[in-house]
Amino acid sequence: MTDPLNSPVVRHSPSTGAASPDVWGIYEPDTGSIQYICADPATKKAALIDVVWNFDPKNYRFSTESIDQVLGIVQDQGLSVEWVLDTHPHADHVMASAHLKERTGAPNAIGALVPEIARIWADLYNLPDAFDPNRDFDHLFKEGETFKIGELDTKVMLSPGHTLGSITYVCGDAAFVHDTLMQPDAGTSRSDFPGGKTTELWDSIQDILALPGDTRLYIGHDYSTKERDEPMWEATVDDHKANNIHVKDGTKREEYIERRQSRDATLSLPDRILAALQINLRGGRLPSSEGDGNHYLKLPVNRFD
Ligand SMILES: [Fe+2]
Repeated sequence: MTDPLNSPVVRHSPSTGAASPDVWGIYEPDTGSIQYICADPATKKAALIDVVWNFDPKNYRFSTESIDQVLGIVQDQGLSVEWVLDTHPHADHVMASAHLKERTGAPNAIGALVPEIARIWADLYNLPDAFDPNRDFDHLFKEGETFKIGELDTKVMLSPGHTLGSITYVCGDAAFVHDTLMQPDAGTSRSDFPGGKTTELWDSIQDILALPGDTRLYIGHDYSTKERDEPMWEATVDDHKANNIHVKDGTKREEYIERRQSRDATLSLPDRILAALQINLRGGRLPSSEGDGNHYLKLPVNRFD
């Protein structure tokens, strides 16, 4: 029997009518990440969101199974890729942005505050000139900016807290909220990485929960729960308000902050973070090869607890 937590599960969440995208969620089991295709059913134009470049942290080897799988669905569905989007520079997986841009010809984008995140990490890696998001992304989306996926209006909300520059993409009745909420039975994402802030995460989540009650929220990660052995990634605003174990209606801000911070204090860094961020802050590109033709990464020592 297939174990759904260790398989690249795909689910299609169909358009619910006018101004509503078709959404495919593709679960990447190594990092518990969910990658999305958000497509306008009328024009078949699509955005790819938070796609993962497979990375084996034991052998330091990269591969493209996830990218190939996502592009396979694009092809099978007759879609054309209009945007390659990320919600934030991910800490637990390497982003496929640069690869996807090359393979699809579509522009890549992320949030307008990513240069500030890059400054924090440029200091932590002592790589003062390595990161330039204006160079490595075609567009940096500002809070409130709008754009189209096909004919569907899409709006950008700034959603800081997990990072200082995370953004949410709201396309019709679908919102890609990445590392803010988890599924209602798992709560919310951590807020303890450099530049993260629990108070901001609470405020960002309140903004997301102020969207219409039937908005379909698509999260960035799922690791299952004791009661549930398959990955889930979609729930409505109303589901979260009724059931989210960290932020359901009636939760007090102070109560949440205290709970989130004591949980974060028990978490160690994700195993891929130090490799992932120095690639992700280059738009998913490895550092240039050295004289011997190989690529090298840099690791700060004794900088994290
Ligand atoms: Fe993240």
